Amino acid sequence: MYAQMVQSTGKGVKRLEEMSPQERAFQARIDAGEKIEPKDWMPEGYRKTLIRQISQHAHSEVVGQLPEGNWITRAPTLERKAILLAKVQDEAGHGLYLYAAAETLGVSRADLIDDLLMGRAKYSSIFNYPTLNWADIGAVGWLVDGAAIVNQVALQRTSYGPYSRAMIRICKEESFHARQGYDLMMKMAAGTKAQKAMAQDALNRLWWPALMMFGPPDKDSVHSAQSMAWKIKVMSNDEGRQRFVDQTIPQIEYLGLEVPDKAARLNPETGHYEFTDPDWDEFFAVINGDGPCNADRMRARNKAHDDGAWFRDGLMAHASKQIAAE
Ligand SMILES: [Fe+2]
Ligand SMILES: [Fe+2]
Repeated sequence: MYAQMVQSTGKGVKRLEEMSPQERAFQARIDAGEKIEPKDWMPEGYRKTLIRQISQHAHSEVVGQLPEGNWITRAPTLERKAILLAKVQDEAGHGLYLYAAAETLGVSRADLIDDLLMGRAKYSSIFNYPTLNWADIGAVGWLVDGAAIVNQVALQRTSYGPYSRAMIRICKEESFHARQGYDLMMKMAAGTKAQKAMAQDALNRLWWPALMMFGPPDKDSVHSAQSMAWKIKVMSNDEGRQRFVDQTIPQIEYLGLEVPDKAARLNPETGHYEFTDPDWDEFFAVINGDGPCNADRMRARNKAHDDGAWFRDGLMAHASKQIAAE
């Protein structure tokens, strides 16, 4: 999964003449394509924006396990169960890489997780939608991980070294996620009438939330300019969304399913699809806590955290024994 930019720094881009010599040198390194490393000097705004983005991204990976984890016990075959288990486990690993990347900026993982559990942190809005039928598992891999890849491939070029390296590793696993999702959709779409109907239903429900994953339209996205200048964000929301639509509509046609957006058309002049925006009021309601599953997700995360306390305590006790024995 990926970081959804939903909060704003509220400021425009700092102009060269407003920068201190240190800030100017920092910007020059970024413009030259250099990576910034944890011990390098960085502006406070850069550090804060990165912490917010990377931690939102980490939370999304972790919360993103819930809608799919819900189907592990109901996977129809042993093979599908093994694939789904591996995929959900990968997402836990992605969370781990990303929390570790955030920690290099001087925050603790425990504090970040606390923010999530107390409802102070954001994560991708898509995970507040339910997975209602087995085809949803295919549609999630194909559309949600597919949308995530568009963003994450771009983020491999981000200016912060640890984040960029985490992305490179994550992208390798994400292509398997999207692939297994599409494979499942191919089976369902070529199956019985009822299976094909399930595939269409999953697509219809997840199409719009998948478009929302790229964040609000560029014109309403005030935070973007400074993040782009710092190369914390390397692709605009609208650009990512367009890329996703262009790659996905031909895949829908290949499946023999109907595009949920009846107005979507290929513009032969631009070579891009024109499409309808998702409902942005719904998007803002969901990120502000009012989606179909927000409360459920938070309850499940808190329960998992509480249930795991004995294990964390055991690890800590073991570690202090080791230290005492040295
Ligand atoms: Fe992931
Ligand atoms: Fe994934």
